[in-house]
Amino acid sequence: MALRDFFIYLSENQMLNGAAQRYGLRMGAQSVVAGTTIPEVVQTIKELNKANISCTVDNLGEFVFEKSAATAAKQKILAVIQAIHDEQLDAHISLKPSQLGQDIDIDFCYENLKEILALAHKYDIFVNFDMENYARLHSSFDLLEKLHQEYDNVGTVIQAYFFESEENIEKYKNFRLRIVKGAYKENDNVAYQSKDDIDRNYLKLIEQHLLNGKFTSIATHDHNVINHVKQFVKKNNIPNDKFEFQMLYGFRKDMQYNLAKEGYNFCTYLPFGSDWYGYFMRRLAERPQNLALVTKQVFNK
Ligand code: FDA
Repeated sequence: MALRDFFIYLSENQMLNGAAQRYGLRMGAQSVVAGTTIPEVVQTIKELNKANISCTVDNLGEFVFEKSAATAAKQKILAVIQAIHDEQLDAHISLKPSQLGQDIDIDFCYENLKEILALAHKYDIFVNFDMENYARLHSSFDLLEKLHQEYDNVGTVIQAYFFESEENIEKYKNFRLRIVKGAYKENDNVAYQSKDDIDRNYLKLIEQHLLNGKFTSIATHDHNVINHVKQFVKKNNIPNDKFEFQMLYGFRKDMQYNLAKEGYNFCTYLPFGSDWYGYFMRRLAERPQNLALVTKQVFNK
């Protein structure tokens, strides 16, 4: 089994996930997870905002199979929105519909999302739906479309590895979109498998949405993509307020600060909470060199 597949397999292991939650941030996860509580994440946002970096906050949580867990997640997200407003932070929300009950009861999930969007809308805070695996793709788009009829402060993610993403960029051209390569393991009947194909489609989708004129979040740690985008926006006179770069908390920190210093809009994705295990394993799957982070944390005590 390839290392990537192995870490994705670990990320889907519910038993290990439960064990990890009981032991707090371990194994180097503290380098890439911005704490377990709202006050901790607020502190991190304030520090990043001082450097002209905005944030998108993700309350970590997977394997939600009971309504009570989804309701607890909703309450936590509402509390984050309230904190962003009260503290006047430059931040918005990223959430996974599965955490709000997508796999339990779609109407219940819709109501949870609606409550979140209503509070965020009241405070003029944007909410982004993260995209998970292919099995949830279409029901996530359905939720998005339905909610967008009432709330314009919502957008989502397009994953470049899916064959259908080019159509989806066109279909959702009036939405604020984050474009990524894609983090899950998908079958070859729905998704590109080779890095070259994914990278090629990634650039194509970014260019397509930038030219469509709606706000584009280019979420990548890939310097080649970032350099390409810098040239592309210059050549096509796309103003800086039409796009931003995004990276995950804890990765390529110097590059994050430098892009903000160069005058580009920059947003750091800040995951927080005790349910960090699946998120952390997916980061190891993407880039086994991230294991270096782990070794550093384990041995530099
Ligand atoms: P990739 O991993 O392809 O790396 C390309 C090259 O960049 C590497 O070969 C290396 O040279 C360099 N590089 C990358 N990381 C580096 C590092 N840490 N240090 C030094 N060099 C490095 N996925 C998803 O399916 N749904 C989602 O909702 C999201 N959301 C999301 C938000 C944000 C803000 C980000 C940054 C990413 C996501 N993703 C995601 C994950 C995304 O799909 C993808 O899996 C990862 O970003 C990894 O791909 P990259 O484009 O970063 O580069």
